[in-house]
Amino acid sequence: MSGPSTYVPKSAIGRWFESRLPIMGLVHSSFVAYPTPKNLNYFWTFGGILSLMLGVQIITGVVLAMHYTAHVDFAFNSVEHIMRDVNWGWFMRYTHANGASMFFVAVYIHMLRGLYYGSYKAPREVLWILGVIIFLLMMATAFMGYVLPWGQMSFWGATVITNLFSAIPLVGDSITTWLWGGYSVDNPTLNRFFSLHYLLPFMIAGVVILHVWALHVTGQNNPTGVEVKNVRQDTLPFTPYATVKDGFAMVVFLAFFSWWIFYVPNYLGHADNYIDANPLVTPAHIVPEWYFLPFYAILRAIPSKLGGVMAMFGAIAVLAFLPWLDTSRVRSAAYRPVYRVFFWVFVACGIGLGYLGAMPAEGGYVIASRILTVYYFGFFLIILPLLGLFETPKPLPASIADSVLIKGGSAGAVAAGAASAPETK
Ligand code: HEM
Repeated sequence: MSGPSTYVPKSAIGRWFESRLPIMGLVHSSFVAYPTPKNLNYFWTFGGILSLMLGVQIITGVVLAMHYTAHVDFAFNSVEHIMRDVNWGWFMRYTHANGASMFFVAVYIHMLRGLYYGSYKAPREVLWILGVIIFLLMMATAFMGYVLPWGQMSFWGATVITNLFSAIPLVGDSITTWLWGGYSVDNPTLNRFFSLHYLLPFMIAGVVILHVWALHVTGQNNPTGVEVKNVRQDTLPFTPYATVKDGFAMVVFLAFFSWWIFYVPNYLGHADNYIDANPLVTPAHIVPEWYFLPFYAILRAIPSKLGGVMAMFGAIAVLAFLPWLDTSRVRSAAYRPVYRVFFWVFVACGIGLGYLGAMPAEGGYVIASRILTVYYFGFFLIILPLLGLFETPKPLPASIADSVLIKGGSAGAVAAGAASAPETK
C-alpha cells in the first residue's frame, strides 16, 4: 500500500541525497503518507509499543553487558556490582528485567488483538507467521537472559528446560550434551547463553522489519475486518493521526512500566534468584517467569515427558497454522457472536493455565491443566475450523467509512452516496 514514493525533499542537499539513496522517501511513504484505516482503536498501538520496548531492551542490555561477566564464578557478583556500584546500574537492571515482562504483556495483547479481529487471515498470513517467529525468538531470548544472573532459579530453570530435549528419542541425550557444552549446565552453557542472548534481539529487530514490511504491503486490518475500499474515505495519513495516538499510548505504557521499576521492581522476579546458583541444592519449586507459565502448565499436563514437550512446542506451532484453521469468511469477532464467546473462554483458559503453571504438578492442579490443555488445542483444531462453517455472522458494514458513520449516527448520508467521510471527527 505504501507504493513507490513521490516524496521530494525541500532542500537541495536533501534532493541530492535522495536521488542516491531514497531513504527519506521510504520513511515518508511508510510513516507519514501511509494510509491508515480511520477506525483503528487503541489495540492497534501495541505494535508501536512493542517496537519501543525492543529498543529499550537493546539499549539497557548493551549497557548491562558492559559491566556483566559471563563466568560461573563471577556472574552473580557482577550483577550485584551492577546493582550497587555502577552509576544508574540498578535502574538499567530493573528496567531490563521488568522490561522483559512488559514486552510480554504487550505481545500477548498484540497477539490477542490479532486473534480477536482476525488479522491473521488472508492476505496477512505471512505477516502473522513472521509474528509467530518473533514470538519464538522472544521466548528464547527471555529464557537465556534469565540464566545470566546465575541465581538458583537461573541455574535450575536452565537445567529443567534444557533437559527437556533429552526426551527426544535416540538423539535426545546427544542434543542436550551439545546444548550444554558439557555434561551439565555449567560455564560453557552460561557463555553460549550470553552470546545468544546478545545476538537474538538483533535478529528479532530484523524480523520486525520484515513484519512491518509485510504489514505495509497488505495494509492494516481494522476493527470491522472490512478491507479499505476507498482510500480517501476509509483512511487517514499515518502522520499526524497514528503517530500522535501511538505516541500517547507509549507514554501511558511507559507510566505503567515505570510503576513496576520504581515501586515493585522485584515483584515479578523470584526470591531464590537472589541466591547464588548451587548445583547441589534444588529449590523447593522451580517456576519459570510468569509469561512462560501457560506453556509450562501444558508441558506438565501430559503424563509422558516426550508427550509434554511435544504439546508445549505444539501449543506455539499451532499458531502458525491459524490462517488456515479458521474457516470463517468474516474476519472480525465484532461480527461473529459465537466466536466471541469461544474467544473469551480461550483468554480465560490462558489465564487459568498460567495460574496452574505456578502451582505444584499434583492432584487437582494436573487434572485442571489437562482440561484446559484440551480446550487450548480444541479451540484451534476443532472450534475454529467448524465454527466458520456453522456460525451465522452479523451483517458487515459496507465500508470502514460507513461503520464510523453508523457509530456517529449519520450512516444514511453515506448509504445515499451524498457525503464523503469527513477527515476528522
Ligand atoms: C517484537 C515484537 C513485535 C513488534 C515490534 C511488532 C510490531 C508490529 C507493528 C508496528 C504493527 C503495526 C501496528 C499494530 O497493528 O499494532 C504490527 C501489526 C501486526 N502484528 Fe506485530 N509485532 C510484534 C510481534 C507480533 C507477534 C508475536 C504477532 C503474532 C504472533 C504479531 C502479529 C501482528 C499482526 C497480525 C499485525 C497486523 C495487525 C492488523 O493490521 O490488524 N506481531 N506489529
